[in-house]
Amino acid sequence: MNTKRNNSDNKQFREFFIDEIKDIYWAEKHLSAALKKMKKAATSPTLASSFEKHIAETDGQIERLKKVFELLGKTPQAKKCDAMEGLVSEAMSVIEDTETDSFTRDAGLIIAARKAEHYEIATYETLSYYAKLLGEKEVSSELEATLKEEKKTDSLLSCLSEEEAYRQTDMKSGKQSAKQSAKQPAEQM
Ligand SMILES: [Fe+2]
Repeated sequence: MNTKRNNSDNKQFREFFIDEIKDIYWAEKHLSAALKKMKKAATSPTLASSFEKHIAETDGQIERLKKVFELLGKTPQAKKCDAMEGLVSEAMSVIEDTETDSFTRDAGLIIAARKAEHYEIATYETLSYYAKLLGEKEVSSELEATLKEEKKTDSLLSCLSEEEAYRQTDMKSGKQSAKQSAKQPAEQM
């Protein structure tokens, strides 16, 4: 990136940054509502409780973004995030298209949730760096705190999908060890 910026570019970059904060603020609020539905729809109690944990975290992240607005001297304002709207609508389709209490329901919810987490990770990681460029160290630290939570949630969901895959493969394969059979999902499923 060319870091030589004139005053007008600096102003534009700051406005762009604030716009992105508005975008992720909307995204967090929209995801929080969706996670409540996803928790209700989950088959596995472990998956439901991981959604529950992330609902609480997401609400904390919304509060953290309010602090970011304050640090930037702005009133919290949400701007519709088309990407999160699409990701959430994909998660809702999973609930509509799968049977209650099914492995497929949970598998679909996990992938939908991980897609949302990855969107958030990319956003927070980049915005935290941009905050530093703007000289907003405290803003950067707030964004990094959320980034850590998003990464942790993503890795928890990743572990859950792996465990569930082992369990399902184990049930189907009988004598074979779960780990061995999970290595050949195409043959087993
Ligand atoms: Fe989040």
